[in-house]
Amino acid sequence: MPNIDPILISDLTLDYGGGDLVLDGLSLAVPAGSITALLGGNGAGKSTTLAALLGFARPRSGAITVCGIDPVMDPDLARRRMAYLPENVALYEHLTAMENAEYLLALSGERVPVAGIEDALAAAALQKRAWHQRLGGFSKGMRQKVAIAVALLREVPVLLLDEPTSGLDPRATADFNQLLIEVRARGAAVLMVTHDLLSAADIADRIAFLEAGRVAYEVAASGAERFDVRGLHARFQLTAERLAA
Ligand SMILES: Nc1ncnc2c1ncn2[C@@H]1O[C@H](COP(=O)(O)OP(=O)(O)OP(=O)(O)O)[C@@H](O)[C@H]1O
Ligand SMILES: [Mg+2]
Repeated sequence: MPNIDPILISDLTLDYGGGDLVLDGLSLAVPAGSITALLGGNGAGKSTTLAALLGFARPRSGAITVCGIDPVMDPDLARRRMAYLPENVALYEHLTAMENAEYLLALSGERVPVAGIEDALAAAALQKRAWHQRLGGFSKGMRQKVAIAVALLREVPVLLLDEPTSGLDPRATADFNQLLIEVRARGAAVLMVTHDLLSAADIADRIAFLEAGRVAYEVAASGAERFDVRGLHARFQLTAERLAA
């Protein structure tokens, strides 16, 4: 099998039926063992890009593959390669953290021993006393931890995240970013939609800025050299201003 990037999008166009192109020539590649942050103003098409990868939104033209699988042709097979954290993680309020993890893993056809789930909840830094509590009283950060624990246990090669740190406090954000670094070290391709430029600059290998449905520009950090956050912020603001004009 040729060694292709786990996430590969080429010249994608997509509309939701109204005729207006939401994605208009989007190209993006995320190699194994790397994190790409996808930034862009509201309505730029970030979540739509994830929906296309998941096979929920159908492209009009262009090519899209997940580990070599076309999610339009074979969405079920493609989804087995991906874990997806939506903006608002949907969990079962009346089940405990453990029960949620067990149930969600069963839904994706996986059986993990209780000790394995406990290890993952611990790795996701969910306090032990919360493991057997119902989700009803959980904060957003606690819910994210349950969801990321499930994603870790699935050991999929592709992780898609939609604004995972929005609403998290700085400590929870740092913990979450640390988990993503571990997921990357395992060789996963991570695509993180975010407005959090600081997190992106901290952990991403590439930052892609989406504007009007395509990647307007992309920057990469190499080795110890990190991004110039101020410079990125200025460019990002310019992009947002241009959109608002
Ligand atoms: N299900 C849908 N049906 C019709 N139009 C949609 C649908 N989902 C998104 N859109 C439109 O597509 C465009 C891109 O939306 P998308 O949700 O991808 O933006 P986004 O970059 O994720 O924005 P945000 O930062 O606000 O989350 C918007 O104009 C939106 O109104
Ligand atoms: Mg969105």
